[in-house]
Amino acid sequence: MAQTSSTSQPVPSGTHHQVSRFVIIVSAIAAIGGLLFGYDTGVISGAILFIKEQFRLDSTMQEFVVSSVLVGSVTGAALGGLLGDRFGRRHMIILAGIIFGLGALLTAFTPNLTILVIGRVIVGVGIGIASFISPMYISEVAPKSIRGTLVFLNQLALTLGILLSYWVDYLFTNVSEGWRLMLGLAIVPALALALGMAKMPDSPRWLIMRNRGGQARKVLHQIRGTQNVDAELEEIHSSLATEGSSQWSDLLKPALRLPLMIGIGLAIFQQVTGINTVIYYAPTIMEFSGLKSAGASILATTGVGVINVLFTIVGSWFVDRAGRRPLLLTSLIGMAISLALLAVSFQLPQLASSLGVAVVIILMLYVASFAIGLGPVFWLLISEIYPLNIRSKAMSVATVANWGANLIVAMTFLSIVNALGRPGAFWLYAVLTLCSVVFTYLLVPETKGRTLEQIQEELKTHHLK
Ligand code: BGC
Repeated sequence: MAQTSSTSQPVPSGTHHQVSRFVIIVSAIAAIGGLLFGYDTGVISGAILFIKEQFRLDSTMQEFVVSSVLVGSVTGAALGGLLGDRFGRRHMIILAGIIFGLGALLTAFTPNLTILVIGRVIVGVGIGIASFISPMYISEVAPKSIRGTLVFLNQLALTLGILLSYWVDYLFTNVSEGWRLMLGLAIVPALALALGMAKMPDSPRWLIMRNRGGQARKVLHQIRGTQNVDAELEEIHSSLATEGSSQWSDLLKPALRLPLMIGIGLAIFQQVTGINTVIYYAPTIMEFSGLKSAGASILATTGVGVINVLFTIVGSWFVDRAGRRPLLLTSLIGMAISLALLAVSFQLPQLASSLGVAVVIILMLYVASFAIGLGPVFWLLISEIYPLNIRSKAMSVATVANWGANLIVAMTFLSIVNALGRPGAFWLYAVLTLCSVVFTYLLVPETKGRTLEQIQEELKTHHLK
């Protein structure tokens, strides 16, 4: 599979290579879905400190409030798959915006804990839908030459959302019941997403799938900035003609087994290699190394947040040049090395005096490695490797796996540290990262520079029997 890259024929130039300014605007608006994904997952880390005081929560209840959003995300990811084809990518993103807004209002004005938890579950549903429909929409409108960069825009917005949430949390720390503002402010990007997408076009590929070829042509004129869209239309039509309509059970057909395995495998590896233990628990990991001050915590979270943003930008520069596979492999090897270094630092007490600084540097190396590859490339690849007629369902399955694995890691991290010790926990994540290197090396295809339809064609001829 890894070799499929060498066999592809480039599409004649002058057909659908144009990068219009409009396609960048369309992608940026859809990426507000990513911003909300990041904001709403990040904001709770600061808000929970005040919520626990106000509602007198013990640690079990705190975990419950924090993970309620993940339960909603699993549900939203499934819902997105059920409704995505019928209502279309654009309407699903508008729906996600409305759900985000509703959740923000409920959590901000909640009279009690029950409504707060319900509000967080609702926010989670929005995250679950947006997490895969935004990348899918962007991938379907993007010209092949910059599809990687445009889908990375969604992850960039996500990392900016996390950073913004840390900043908002910090800003409202001394405001009475400031947590309501922290959660409620998500209404602003939620409205921007819903209203912005209302003005954007439908995905041309979805329109063709729904037999609305005339509209698809108009949209392609608009987003390609040219009348010359016949070749692209023809390619989508003929690819769809060989696919027909799809059922959930089609996911089990031999031709789809490998892409499905790649999607679910990468989804699980993206989480079990530990990123969210760092995103959610960076201050705790810093405390393990003896840095306990509030300043150190802020340094840990903002440092992690800034590095996450910067290295996503670095990755976006490489993704359409070097390709998905080199980026993913470099990312995973960097993560494995940093996790092993983290484990070793916790293992050698003689390093104790300089441990604090070492842990900060290693954490940054780890986040940088994730940000250039595994973070964004997972969402990009699952938006590229499935045939149009089943894309929404297959992406939904991979996304449910991603959120399910996220939930399991969030719930088990502290118990794993207790059971295996600090070095043991990080060795475990390092070994899982090595497994994902092997998985990627053997199975993940290169999709750079091809149209979505060419990717389907190539995957068909290289599928596992
Ligand atoms: C992952 C999230 C993670 C985020 C961090 C995303 O690609 O799916 O689980 O929190 O990256 O930037």
